[in-house]
Amino acid sequence: MSRDVLAILPGPPLVGDCAVPGDKSITHRAVMLALLASGTSEIGNANPGEDCRGTLRAAEALGLERLDAPDAGVLRLRGSGALAEPAGVLDCGNSGTTLRLLAGIVAPRPFLTVLAGDASLNGRPVARIVEPLRAMGAQVQARDGDRFPPLVIRGGPLRAIAWTLPVASAQALGCVLFAGLAATGETAVTVPGPARDHSERMLAAAGVALERRELADGGRRVALRGPASPRPVTLTVPGDFSAAAFFLAAAAARPGARVTCRGVGLNPTRTGLLEVLEAMGAKVERRAGPAALGEDVGEVTVSGPDRLRGFEIPAGWLPRLVDEVPAWVISAALARGRSRLTGAGELRVKESDRIATLAAGLQRLGIAARELPDGLESEGGGLRGGTVDAAGDHRVAMAFAALATLAPAPVTITGAAGIATSFPGFARTLESLGGAVEAPGRRAPA
Ligand code: S3P
Repeated sequence: MSRDVLAILPGPPLVGDCAVPGDKSITHRAVMLALLASGTSEIGNANPGEDCRGTLRAAEALGLERLDAPDAGVLRLRGSGALAEPAGVLDCGNSGTTLRLLAGIVAPRPFLTVLAGDASLNGRPVARIVEPLRAMGAQVQARDGDRFPPLVIRGGPLRAIAWTLPVASAQALGCVLFAGLAATGETAVTVPGPARDHSERMLAAAGVALERRELADGGRRVALRGPASPRPVTLTVPGDFSAAAFFLAAAAARPGARVTCRGVGLNPTRTGLLEVLEAMGAKVERRAGPAALGEDVGEVTVSGPDRLRGFEIPAGWLPRLVDEVPAWVISAALARGRSRLTGAGELRVKESDRIATLAAGLQRLGIAARELPDGLESEGGGLRGGTVDAAGDHRVAMAFAALATLAPAPVTITGAAGIATSFPGFARTLESLGGAVEAPGRRAPA
């Protein structure tokens, strides 16, 4: 077996406490703000995965100086406020956030930037950022009629704009706000739905004044006035709720299981999964700890009832659990009755077509699951062992691994190497909760 394969054996209910890596969305933004600021930023508990390492490498190629010793545990990053033209292509790997946010950062600079990714990222849509950046005056081109990366940006002075996003995408919102920092006047973005708000929180932490107005559809209008220079940031990144989600959803689905995740960010634009698990009958306890970035960071404990109830996720909830749908299918697969998600077409353009990848994997494991054009439907029960393919998608691989702990026979997951993009210690953490992980050479791969 290679590192791309993970095998999970039947085991006891997951029980225990765990910590998860630092929040990926916050880490990306903290590094980017360190690049834009003049001075030294300090970022503790940065996400150690490949996606955020890619952002750091790209920021270094744009002029960020790294001052910390490797493995010091805290990133010390010095920006000069002026960016340099990168000598080569900025390789964003598997990370949509790296590519889409950096596009907004380089668009106002008087130089050429080429942004590209791996095969998955080069197949993900960029029109949602190409259009507003062009409206601001940047010269932007992308592959296949400006739809996909690579992205070529000849930057220059930008105009402030008022822009309405076609999708509730936090990455597109962040891209336009970052570009707006360098434009003269008010740049305002309207987001059609409750997308995560880390760009606003991080810009505010870097001293940038923002105006925010909530809208009737659950969306918001966010505005900033440029030119504005972010200050260096000093922060400890909270644990990533999206990483905790796999263990919490697996705990919800099995009587006798009880998992606590410590030090997790509980930003309400991110925690829709907890409300879904509660609606399905799980017990969810939150204990708020000291706030960071104006939001609760605390402990979440989830324990399962005798059996969860199937649940239809209301249309419009998706942005608050956009990355937790793979975790949700774990609980849906074990629940009594039908579970259903619609309004989730965006999942088809994530690191894989998550609707297709999840439905195919569930079917392989004996669950009656069906793809909908914009969602997924499943009847809980019938879980069995087998082999499933995560198609290189980190969240799908982790979801199948956590689901596999509930199966009566071994489950092999292929296409699992992507786990390193966000949670390199995933298998070890799963083992610490009682999961029986089998990997080449040793029981607990890093
Ligand atoms: C992210 C936003 C989300 C999410 C992604 C991280 C971010 O994508 O799926 O993993 O950090 O801004 P959207 O742009 O679709 O909201």
